[in-house]
Amino acid sequence: MKQTQQTPQSAEQHKQWFIQDRFGIFIHWGIYSLAARHEWVKNYEELTDEHYQRYFDHFDPDLFDPTEWARIAKRAGMRYAVITTKHHDGFCLWDSQLTDYKATNTPAGRDLIQEWVEAFRAGGLKIGFYHSLIDWHHPEFPVDGFHPQRDDLEFREQAKHRDIRKYTEYLHGQVRELLTNYGQIDIIWFDCSYSSRDWGWSQGKGKKDWQSEQLLKMVHELQPQILVNDRLEIRGDFSTPEQVQPREWVKVDGERVAWEACQTLNGSWGYDRDNLNWKSPDLLVCMLIDTVSKGGNLLLNVGPTARGEFESRAVATLDAMGTWTRKHARSIYGASASEFVAPPDCRLTQHGDRLYLHIFSWPMGALYLENMVGRVAYAQFLHDGSEVRIQDRTQVGHQVENDPVATNTLTLLLPIQRPDVLVPVIELFLK
Ligand code: GLC
Repeated sequence: MKQTQQTPQSAEQHKQWFIQDRFGIFIHWGIYSLAARHEWVKNYEELTDEHYQRYFDHFDPDLFDPTEWARIAKRAGMRYAVITTKHHDGFCLWDSQLTDYKATNTPAGRDLIQEWVEAFRAGGLKIGFYHSLIDWHHPEFPVDGFHPQRDDLEFREQAKHRDIRKYTEYLHGQVRELLTNYGQIDIIWFDCSYSSRDWGWSQGKGKKDWQSEQLLKMVHELQPQILVNDRLEIRGDFSTPEQVQPREWVKVDGERVAWEACQTLNGSWGYDRDNLNWKSPDLLVCMLIDTVSKGGNLLLNVGPTARGEFESRAVATLDAMGTWTRKHARSIYGASASEFVAPPDCRLTQHGDRLYLHIFSWPMGALYLENMVGRVAYAQFLHDGSEVRIQDRTQVGHQVENDPVATNTLTLLLPIQRPDVLVPVIELFLK
């Protein structure tokens, strides 16, 4: 008999790897990658099924090499991966028995999720499925204010009798397939619920429509160890702030929770050819650090091209991040927020008796740590293991004698030249 009930203890245990691993890759890939102008293109441009069909008919990812994707992700320092099995447009990357709207019927001609899972698992990454609760292709999905045909009154009239219960049966059936046919799945990442939306002529959809409680029960029956995100409109295993950096550890009902910021490389999730809003590698490394310093994870997205590759801009960015994460693994994996207070322009993470001081802006000559006198046994740069000399007030000259702040302040003596890494880190060994 499979375990079907999650106890609070088992739920906490299942989360351990997630909290340890800190950095994952999000992959948004589908037939919108051919349009190459955002995964919401069908909605933005109010495209009909007939028009959108061109992307289905021409989906031929001849360069798709998931082993290479996994290699790039690992090189960047990513330890788990979440891929879109189906996005809002309803297109399925796997060989679902419940629809014809799937990769096997495009020129791709095969189950791409199968190949992806095998490659990423072989690469040692944990496996996650993003699955859209929305579906702009399904004939029983009621038209609402997000639907591409929202302004087509004739379409709306014809769609009047759509039955959400029939769609939800399909939704549950597809989730069952995904959690039955691909071995152990570590994360299921549902998106999105919007029951508070009200367009007058239509309402948003949420928990009641998806039958979230029942769906979650089935998910746990099929994969007892799986982590579920928080977008079913019921509290999940982790919270998912999107395209924002929270200002502090994310709380639910006043309590700190596991959380994962999902972020893009350029503002779009799907491949977006003409988008120039690329974040720099040092900004992204700062975001990773900032996230861990607040007890969270970073899920960073890549939108592969229609031919099945990561574009060179994405690879270059991930490689630059990887150069940093390789040398600074200790300050990220297994680390979390610290109760010590970081000096200005810095972020602190902590792992046991090691404190990691990430310096976002390079100061002249010294960094001052308040209330730390007598607490630090040794300090070194993490990138090269070179000593960073420490002074406390007993060793500092007269300028601090009468300064009440400085009396409990520890000084780290820094070189004038900033080390040549995206973000320098000092590792402090606590006494
Ligand atoms: C949003 C968007 C979507 C994207 C997701 C990732 O909810 O609808 O396109 O997949 O965020 O978090």
